[in-house]
Amino acid sequence: MHQLNFHQRYVIVTGGASGIGEAIVHRLTASGAGVIIWDVNHDQVRRLQDANHPMQCALTVDVVDPAAVASAMTESLRWVYGHFGGEGAGIDGLVCSAGITGPNKTVIDYGVADWKQVIEINLNGVFICNQAVAKHMKDRAYGRIVNIASVAGKEGNPNASAYSASKAAVIALTKSLGKELATHGVTVNCVTPAAVKTPMFSQMTEAHIAFMLSKIPMGRFGQVEEIASMVCWLCSSEASFSTGAVFDLSGGRATY
Ligand SMILES: NC(=O)c1ccc[n+]([C@@H]2O[C@H](COP(=O)([O-])OP(=O)(O)OC[C@H]3O[C@@H](n4cnc5c(N)ncnc54)[C@H](O)[C@@H]3O)[C@@H](O)[C@H]2O)c1
Repeated sequence: MHQLNFHQRYVIVTGGASGIGEAIVHRLTASGAGVIIWDVNHDQVRRLQDANHPMQCALTVDVVDPAAVASAMTESLRWVYGHFGGEGAGIDGLVCSAGITGPNKTVIDYGVADWKQVIEINLNGVFICNQAVAKHMKDRAYGRIVNIASVAGKEGNPNASAYSASKAAVIALTKSLGKELATHGVTVNCVTPAAVKTPMFSQMTEAHIAFMLSKIPMGRFGQVEEIASMVCWLCSSEASFSTGAVFDLSGGRATY
């Protein structure tokens, strides 16, 4: 694994207790970053807290709750200042990986409550976290925001309409915010992975997983480390001339 320089950089990773987010946390930590994990899974957060890693802070946060996100931001800054204190320290990066798939059903059969829950977590949660951190980054004139969208947001997977719609909206949110902050030293990008084997697979039907694999020209699932590699580069200071952009991670599936 190549090392990126995250010395005295502090990055929040939502959904960092599992799957893709967890791999991003590992790679950032291995590259010298201080990492703050925001995740709703209290047991996993407790596991991370018990591990007591000096460069990691784990908080139980539901990303759909603006008040919880605001207080997590305050707590995260307290951790950064308390542990590392140096002049100019703050939140340098935000990775929004928290998400769910929702049921695999046709639009005709899709429950309204299920639809709203997917949009609430996958879209509104990203908006709430982007908003909470963007102002801080703008004030410091530096920041890297990376949202985890999906190739489903480009293509619209059958039997995953809410998920696909939420991810398409995350792509659009990324483009809007990227332009708004383009002259403020803050970049905002997203990645669009195809299927990656993580605990999220337990939320999908076997038929849907087989469908997703069949669409990938490389003929295999992505690996969490492959997603983490690109995301961490986008979080680094080296990634300075890309914003409002969408980066493919689909084994050749995406055609635009
Ligand atoms: N796995 C894939 O095939 C795949 C493909 C493309 C995109 N993605 C996207 O990547 C991201 C991560 O997915 P994953 O595969 O690692 O899933 P995962 O289920 O392994 O991890 C998701 C994490 O998000 C957390 N989370 C869920 N709702 C939350 C909330 N309201 N507040 C805070 N945390 C919450 C969960 O507790 C979990 O730790 C998601 O946004 C997903 O849509 C995944």
